[in-house]
Amino acid sequence: MLQERIPDLTKYVEPDRVRREVYTDADIFELEMQRIHERVWIYCGHESQVPKAGDYYAVQIGRQPMLMVRGADGKVNVLYNRCPHRGNMMCGDRHGNTGDFFRCSYHAWTFHHDGRLKSIPMMESGYAGTRYGRDNPDCSMKRAARVESYRGFVFASLSPDGESLLEFLGESKVAFDDMCDRAPEGEVEIVPNCFRVIQHSNWKIFLENQLDALHPSVTHQSTGRAAHDVEKLIEKKTGKAPISYHMLSAFATVTIDKWDNFQTLNYPHGHCILTGYMGLRPQDPDTLAYDKVMIKAYGQKRFEEIVGVNIHHVLIYPGLSVQSPLQQLRAVRPLGVDRTLTEIWHFRLKGAPEPIYRRSLAYYNLVNSPATIVNADDLENFWKCHQGLSSDGGDWVSFARHLGRDIEKNGVVETAAGCGTSEAPMRNQMKAWAQYMTAEK
Ligand code: FES
Ligand SMILES: [Fe+2]
Repeated sequence: MLQERIPDLTKYVEPDRVRREVYTDADIFELEMQRIHERVWIYCGHESQVPKAGDYYAVQIGRQPMLMVRGADGKVNVLYNRCPHRGNMMCGDRHGNTGDFFRCSYHAWTFHHDGRLKSIPMMESGYAGTRYGRDNPDCSMKRAARVESYRGFVFASLSPDGESLLEFLGESKVAFDDMCDRAPEGEVEIVPNCFRVIQHSNWKIFLENQLDALHPSVTHQSTGRAAHDVEKLIEKKTGKAPISYHMLSAFATVTIDKWDNFQTLNYPHGHCILTGYMGLRPQDPDTLAYDKVMIKAYGQKRFEEIVGVNIHHVLIYPGLSVQSPLQQLRAVRPLGVDRTLTEIWHFRLKGAPEPIYRRSLAYYNLVNSPATIVNADDLENFWKCHQGLSSDGGDWVSFARHLGRDIEKNGVVETAAGCGTSEAPMRNQMKAWAQYMTAEK
C-alpha cells in the first residue's frame, strides 16, 4: 500500500535537499524500520554490561524489543524479548540477571540463555500429539539473525544476509580502536548507567546534528561565554582553571571560522568522521601521569601513534555516535516518527589513572546531564525542527553548504580545506538512506 502511495522514494532526496516528509511521514518511518534499522548492524551494548552468566540488558532494534544476555558458556546472545507460548515479554525490566535460565512469568515455559527451549509444564501430558514439543524450533525464543562484536562492542543484525560487521563498519571501526587503544590494557569497561533522553523529534534530526560543526558556536554560545567568563576569573585568581571549564568555553572561543578548519571524512553506508579535538594533548599533571603509564604499556612510538589520533566524533549510521577520545557514545533508538530515544554511555579506560576517568565523567555530565544547558539547547532545536517540518511553511530541508567543493577519492568524500562546516555529512547520510530505502528486497 505504502509502495503505491510513495512510488519513488528517490524523488524525496536530491543532492542538496530532502523532502520534509522524510522526517514526518509515519509510513516512511515504518519503511525505514524495515529496510534500515531491522536489517543493518545495530549496536546492542558492551560486553562488560553483562559480565556474569544470566546477566541481560533489554535493547530496542527498530521496532523489536530484544535482550542481550550472557550465556553460561561465556557467549553473548541477542534474542527477541518474547515468549514463544503466548507472546509475553520474557523480561520486563531494563536489565538484571535471569539466573540459570529464563522462566516466563505467565505459564513457566523455560529457556536456556541462548533461547533454546528447556522445559514446558506438562509437556508430556499436555502436548502429546500436537506440533509443540522439544524438537519444534518455534518453541524456542527467536534469536537475532546475526550477532558479532568488535573490541567488546556487541552488534546484532535482524537480517540473515549482508556484510560482516567489519565490512559494514569499514573505516568507522576506528571509533572503537581509538577508544580501546587509549587504555593501557587495550580494553574499556562500561560505566553501568546511562542517560536516557527521549527527544520529541525524528531520529535523523539527531544524527544530522552530531557532525554539524557549525551549530556549537551558535546553539551552545551562551554556555561557552558563561564558562569562558568564569574560566578567566579563576585563572586570574589562581593562575589556572580546571580543564572542565575549557571543555565548555571552547563552544564560544572556537568560532564558526575556526570550525571550518576541521574536516569531515564521509564513507559508504553514511558513516562519517569529524576530525579535530579541542584538548588533544594537554600538559597538566594528570595527563602527564597517564602518559607515563601508557608509555610503559606500549612504548614511546606506539604511544605517540595512539594519542596522535585526531578524532572528535565518529558517526556510525544509522544508530551510533562515538566520541572516542572522551570515551562516550550515544546510541539512537527510534521509537516513532517523532520520538527518539538516545542512550548516552561512557567508559573507563582499563589500567588508566583515576583522574582520567574523572575527566571523562566531567565531560559526560557537562554535555549530557539533565542539569546541563548544552543538551537542553540541542533538544530544543530538535523539537523545533520537527515542529517546523510538520508545518506547511515549506517542503524542503537544505543541505547545500559547501556543496560542490567536496573531494571524492575512492568512494570517500573529504571536505576541502577551510570547509569543515560543510553539510557533506548530512548529504552522505541521506545518500545512504536513499540506497537502503530503495534497495531491492
Ligand atoms: S506466555 Fe510465556 S509461558 Fe505462556
Ligand atoms: Fe550540540
